Amino acid sequence: MARKERVTHKQDPSAHKTREKWATRIGVVLAMAANAIGIGNFLRFPVQCAQNGGGAFMIPYFIAFILIGIPLMWIEWGIGRFGGKYGHGTTPGMFHYLWNHPFAKYLGAIGIFLPFGILIYYNYIVSWTLAYSAFSLTGQYLAVPGHEQMVDFLAAFQGRAQNEYFNSHATALIFLFITIAILTWILSRGIVKGIEAVATWGVPLTFIIGVVLVWRVATLGTPDPAYPDRSILNGLGFMWNPNFEALKDTKVWLAATGQIFFTLSVGFGCIQTYASYLSEKDDVVVSGLATVATNEFSEVLIGGFIAIPVTVAYFGLAQTQVIAQSGAFDLGFCALPLIFQKLPGGQLFGALWFFLLFIAGLLSSIALAQPMMAFLQDEFTLSRQKAALMVGGLCLFLVIPIVFFLKHGFLDEMDFWLGTFGVVLFALVEIILFIWIFKPKNAWKEIEMGADMRIPKFFYPVMQYVTPIYLGILLVAWFAQDGLKIIFMKGVQPGDYPYIWFARFLMTTILLTLIFLVFLAWQKKHRIQHKVPK
Ligand code: TRP
Repeated sequence: MARKERVTHKQDPSAHKTREKWATRIGVVLAMAANAIGIGNFLRFPVQCAQNGGGAFMIPYFIAFILIGIPLMWIEWGIGRFGGKYGHGTTPGMFHYLWNHPFAKYLGAIGIFLPFGILIYYNYIVSWTLAYSAFSLTGQYLAVPGHEQMVDFLAAFQGRAQNEYFNSHATALIFLFITIAILTWILSRGIVKGIEAVATWGVPLTFIIGVVLVWRVATLGTPDPAYPDRSILNGLGFMWNPNFEALKDTKVWLAATGQIFFTLSVGFGCIQTYASYLSEKDDVVVSGLATVATNEFSEVLIGGFIAIPVTVAYFGLAQTQVIAQSGAFDLGFCALPLIFQKLPGGQLFGALWFFLLFIAGLLSSIALAQPMMAFLQDEFTLSRQKAALMVGGLCLFLVIPIVFFLKHGFLDEMDFWLGTFGVVLFALVEIILFIWIFKPKNAWKEIEMGADMRIPKFFYPVMQYVTPIYLGILLVAWFAQDGLKIIFMKGVQPGDYPYIWFARFLMTTILLTLIFLVFLAWQKKHRIQHKVPK
């Protein structure tokens, strides 16, 4: 039965000849880099690094980069291009051809569920960066006197509190609406005129702004002579001096591996979709490496040299530690605005900093949205414009509970299941399908087709054994460390239980809907095939 399904499917006169393709090779690398470079590079990375052993963090980070990051990047490019050949831009179709089993396509639904689920709240975060960029220019937060008040300012902006700064969600909603509108517009322009064009100027722009900010930070010296220990040098020392003791803690290893997943955008289903617009003649091996190199440059050499060092220079070591403990948002949206108040030219640098986050975040949103776009276009033959309106509309609708229930831990609950647990699970699934079920020699052939370089020999056994075993261990460790606590809602206020359940209900509904849509899409294909005369 299953075999027959596959055979008929191959003869399916599908629309894949009309699928879009990337225009240029540099455009592909920039689009893929734009996918990976996001808010994670500039806020999440420095906080993770500073909290988990400073320079020593780079050891587990680098190991995860080699053993998980690079292999998954190649695997996802390979799976994506393979699926694109058959007219499928999302993992249900891709998995269907990798594994000749009716269940495969349903497993693939995860590769639309994760990015779409994340997109719903990621857009909201991106809209905060746009708002803060505007606030910097207009001097909105200039008079906010201290850290505590800055926390209140953020809370009121997000509608978690009401005070003299904001008394409703209105401002946040306006910026959210603008962000989703821009996203929808870019999506509706398609692969070359939308995504590739935006990435071609967006990625260089993030680099230019990033370098300007690094230069500003590097030339700060000791901003307040009354505190000689609050200097950029000490900031760099805090960020980068290795604390090797930290490596004894599993938490540090999990954090480093999690950061590799997050920053490279692997394990989500997005790389596969972008890769489905490649052709068989395109190189994957070198372009994949160029993508990860671009991301790492922006993460380590730009992201690692702005937020934390400047915070030490203005607040000193002890307070920076406290700020880093309270997370990336506290650092980005509360500590840094206070610094921009004091920094010479701070209003401009503040606007640049948040605009950097906005561009990087917006380009990542596009990548998160494209799987759903491709699914609607490839499997339901929706036009690009209709698909874009639908994705934008769904984002607007589904973000509502996140906006209004933010203070009840709604976003965090979604982030754990989708962004931490889901990606490792999905990475494991795809590697088993591609390397084990599809067979290693087919997998290498897919990746190396059209390549400028073969995969270095070292990586064959790594991809076959080390990466999947590493992922399996990770999944268990994560589950033991955080999963159980989260399932049983340890540390959640009892009053928030209903909200957490609602978040779970929402995620389950989205997943089930997607599984059902996959079912429908395949039904429809069979109906078409029966009509084809023999
Ligand atoms: N890599 C992005 C960042 O560093 C975030 C991200 C995670 C992402 N997964 C993704 C972006 C999937 C696009 C697609 O911020």
